Amino acid sequence: MEKEKAKQYIYIVQASLEPSKCKIGKTNDLGRRLSEYNNMTGKSQENIYRYLFTCEVEDMTQVEKDIKDEFQKFREDKKKEIYFFNADLFEEYVKSIKLHPSFVKEIFTKADDKNPIVKIIKKTTPSLKERGLTKKEVLQKAQKSKNDEFYTRYEDIEKEISMYDKKIWKDKVVFCNCDDAIDERNGKINEKRTSAFALFFIHNFKNLGLKKLICTHYSGAIDLFNAGSESVVYLITYEVGEDGKIKIRKTSPKGYTGSFDDPLSLRILNEDADIVCTNPPFSRAADYWKITIKSGKKFLIISNITNVKNKAYMRYFIDNKVWAGYNRVDWFQDTRKRLIDAAGHWYTNLPIKNRPKYELLKIIPLKDIPEKYKKNDDNKILIVNEGYIPDKYKKPFAVSPRIILNGLLEKGYKMVQDSEYVPYINGRRCFGMILVQKTVFE
Ligand SMILES: C[S@@+](CC[C@H](N)C(=O)[O-])C[C@H]1O[C@@H](n2cnc3c(N)ncnc32)[C@H](O)[C@@H]1O
Repeated sequence: MEKEKAKQYIYIVQASLEPSKCKIGKTNDLGRRLSEYNNMTGKSQENIYRYLFTCEVEDMTQVEKDIKDEFQKFREDKKKEIYFFNADLFEEYVKSIKLHPSFVKEIFTKADDKNPIVKIIKKTTPSLKERGLTKKEVLQKAQKSKNDEFYTRYEDIEKEISMYDKKIWKDKVVFCNCDDAIDERNGKINEKRTSAFALFFIHNFKNLGLKKLICTHYSGAIDLFNAGSESVVYLITYEVGEDGKIKIRKTSPKGYTGSFDDPLSLRILNEDADIVCTNPPFSRAADYWKITIKSGKKFLIISNITNVKNKAYMRYFIDNKVWAGYNRVDWFQDTRKRLIDAAGHWYTNLPIKNRPKYELLKIIPLKDIPEKYKKNDDNKILIVNEGYIPDKYKKPFAVSPRIILNGLLEKGYKMVQDSEYVPYINGRRCFGMILVQKTVFE
């Protein structure tokens, strides 16, 4: 009798003491794999691994490989199965696995803390709770996540701001509303513990002709550059007094959390600020974008490169409420100022002049695009690569996020749907792309 083929599973697992990471792997035995994690030598007893997501697939090796390729920027170490974790990313991982042609069905498991043996439970409508998690927990974890504790390098801010017309800043109130605190004591600024955004605007206050700089300090779990318990929540303003001297005012309003959505921060945003400039927390980016765009204020912020193909943000690009800034951001710093590989990009609603990256768009007749950079998917949608764009093509076609960041929407093309387009070629799922269409024909 033919031996029954072993089932194949993909899982996302997380250790209770490492909320900023998860592992994505493959196995033929979910129970045994979880026990292996929990019996790892050198692991503390309290650090319990739990599955966040498990599913059956047809080809676990292929799914694992495709996940590695798709999310390579989010892997802690290119050789390992460890991925960064927060609520948005978790959703992306699960979505990608579920959309894979090899996906069979989600498996719901249960394991108690003392005895991490997995029982597969038959459920058709699972809840996060049934998988040992509440939505609140996921969000709380994400909020406290170390993933938010990435700091912007001074040179990245300098490089981006130098590209804009200096007049933009004249007599303006700049608001840095995400942990862009100035570490000030007795009128002296400790540059080592001041965020690069605040420092940049302080150093360039007169040069840019700023009227005022307002920075907040958030009461999160982790302080900017490990400022520690000395730090309290505060608001700090930096402006030139009537006597021509710089005045720094530090206040700790009662009940103020320092959060960008605290009523006081919202009041400053809506009433006092002219330009908002920061690198908001990754785990709250969607809320941050919503609040900022709704305020109607000018902004220049850093966010993930993939926002252009993420449903939470695409509508803003379609409605022309936001566009890419000039530069990508490939490095952040951690709390100990070590460099961390980043997948960031500047986004703004400030005017962009002669975007240098237009040069990377090769807009030519379809017939002249080399064969290897154009193909049709299973739906007969044209996919173009390597910056090639057909100039007189009337139907929608798919491009990579990079093309949008290089300014395609400013060249007479529009996004035609507010969610990513996932092409299939010969039944195989390809990377998520963006559907665009030419609107302006000369
Ligand atoms: C990506 S870091 C950037 C920090 C700083 N803006 C910079 O660019 O170096 C995001 C910061 O936002 C802080 N943060 C988290 N939640 C926040 C909230 N609700 N309001 C304001 N800041 C928040 C985090 O503690 C973290 O320091």
